[in-house]
Amino acid sequence: MQAPGRCCHWASLPSPSVWEAASMYGTAVAVFLVILVAALQGSAPTESRLPYHIPLDPEGFLELSWNISYAQEAIDFQLLVRRLKAGVLFGMSDRGKPENADLVVLWTDGDTAYFADAWSDQNGQIHLDPQQDYQLLQVQRTPEGLVLLFKRPFGTCDPKDYLIEDGTVHLVYGILEKPFQSLEAINTSGLRMGLQRVQLLKPDIPNPALPSDTYTMEIHAPNIRIPSQETTYWCHVKELPKGFPRHHIVMYEPIVTKGNEGLVHHMEVFQCPPEMDSVPYFSGPCDSEKKPDNLNYCRRVLAAWALGAKAFYYPEEAGLAFGGPGSSRYLRLEIHYHNPLVKEGQHDSSGIRLYYTPTLRRFDAGIMELGLVYTPVMAIPPQETDFVLTGYCTDSCTQLALPPSGIHIFASQLHTHLAGRKVVTMLVRDGREWEIVNQDNHYSPQFQEIRMLKKVVSVHRGDVLITSCTYNTEDRKQATVGGFGIMEEMCVNYVHYYPQTELELCKSAVDAGFLQEFFHLINRFNGGKEVCTCPQPSIPQQFASVPWNSFSRKVLQALYGFAPISMHCNKSWAVHFQGEWNLQPLPKVISSLEAPTPQCPPRQCPSPASPAIISIVGDRG
Ligand SMILES: *[C@@H]1O[C@H](CO)[C@@H](O)[C@H](O)[C@H]1NC(C)=O
Ligand SMILES: *[C@@H]1O[C@H](CO)[C@@H](O)[C@H](O)[C@H]1NC(C)=O
Ligand SMILES: *[C@@H]1O[C@H](CO)[C@@H](O)[C@H](O)[C@H]1NC(C)=O
Repeated sequence: MQAPGRCCHWASLPSPSVWEAASMYGTAVAVFLVILVAALQGSAPTESRLPYHIPLDPEGFLELSWNISYAQEAIDFQLLVRRLKAGVLFGMSDRGKPENADLVVLWTDGDTAYFADAWSDQNGQIHLDPQQDYQLLQVQRTPEGLVLLFKRPFGTCDPKDYLIEDGTVHLVYGILEKPFQSLEAINTSGLRMGLQRVQLLKPDIPNPALPSDTYTMEIHAPNIRIPSQETTYWCHVKELPKGFPRHHIVMYEPIVTKGNEGLVHHMEVFQCPPEMDSVPYFSGPCDSEKKPDNLNYCRRVLAAWALGAKAFYYPEEAGLAFGGPGSSRYLRLEIHYHNPLVKEGQHDSSGIRLYYTPTLRRFDAGIMELGLVYTPVMAIPPQETDFVLTGYCTDSCTQLALPPSGIHIFASQLHTHLAGRKVVTMLVRDGREWEIVNQDNHYSPQFQEIRMLKKVVSVHRGDVLITSCTYNTEDRKQATVGGFGIMEEMCVNYVHYYPQTELELCKSAVDAGFLQEFFHLINRFNGGKEVCTCPQPSIPQQFASVPWNSFSRKVLQALYGFAPISMHCNKSWAVHFQGEWNLQPLPKVISSLEAPTPQCPPRQCPSPASPAIISIVGDRG
């Protein structure tokens, strides 16, 4: 290799793609690339320092790796740009739109290359951020492409910046194909932009060691051809061997066929109900007419993985039981292929590898459903931007159903349908908000994974668990009612906990009688006209004929805020615990949890912000 800064021979560059890109835009871009090439020094960061990876675009040009320092409250990002053209944009926004995004931009004006912390306004125009919070650490050319290493605190106290929180983060990226005279000249609406969802703040917990007698089982697609359509849900039936005894699953990990990393979006393994003693073999699209009907009943989650997630480990003292009497021999693998470029002829054998042991651990892990019952009595008016519905697991239920020592929640999977935007479950003890079980302020129904909690949450007898979901129905003309349909809504938190109890479902819904009072009231204000004159209107029909104005919206919200609930404190297969569960008062919450005060990082340079010039001199030190 020649001395940095003196290297001007394209022939010495290993990657032909850069050569192609450069020749397309002539000497201006060539100068830009030479500068970058010259700027590289130091060794490539190793896998162990940046343990998390995700491809950003479907073609695989951009790849993000990162690590987290909880002590510094900062993330180190490494962006690999294969086949660099004239620059890239990378950043975050509330729901992944290129507008109103917090960005870093690498661009060139033809002579000089720049790197800056920037933001896009509501029209997509880019502006330099007066406060530069992304710190460029290194620029490096590797045989794979250009590598940018930079750091960002979780929170910056800059109103133009995105606050990196627990839960889903919508990453946005864009590719600059030509030089721009200035940062302000860039408008995201003219660029190739995209988004990728990821959990950036992975919990910092060591993985427990696997027992010595661990076996593995792969549940994967049998070298299928991924359909050339944007969205496919593939269903595959797996039968456990006859007489397969009870085991504990202690870990599972994704198996993603090489080359398909950008296509396999998420995968889940479901157990069929124990009484289902025969399921015909099937491997095909889940909406196929050939799919056996009873596969729909196989919906008890055994394992779940989504893009960007790593292996899932059970806590040392617990495992998820499968096999043996009282459990079905049939499992259903479901793979969501996301193929936006409609690639053809791509073969795939992705799936999930289970690690299980015959030496049962001390506790069986269990899964409990919190939130709202699937019923139309819980509804969201149309054209709402952030309507909240809340489901309760009351003190009477936890008092009755939990063991004296309580339970320990270690993981959680949040679930809503298409209108869901935020989900949170709060633990309330003695009337006080005590601890957040799980929260996602940027929840997306397209990104559901089982997430380990950063800290195990213990639930005592008499505690209350309150799950709230925020919905956006701006694009809907009719009320959205609760239910199973994709255009109906759910509000669920599947919590993974131990020791397993009989309590499988602790959910609520507003009392149906009080809801009728709402319809009567709306009728009276509506000039006495019955909302629906049909003899026995269904609840969805009643909701469909409510005139939605600020009055009816406020009354419905108020009703959900005070009316008694009917509790579902149930064992498996819809059997409830003994007790009175109708017309239960809403749990009282007398004090709220204090929101953490944001940590503002010390300002590094008080001088007016300017882009970093990626130059030979500066980087040679
Ligand atoms: C994160 O990665 C950076 C860059 O490779 C490295 O300097 C740092 O030590 C890493 N931090 C942690 C907590 O691993
Ligand atoms: C950016 O592009 C959008 C859509 O083409 C346009 O409405 C907007 O005015 C542009 N902004 C600027 C500053 O050019
Ligand atoms: C809970 O159990 C009751 C009584 O068996 C049943 O009517 C109800 O449907 C169950 N709830 C759910 C959500 O399964």
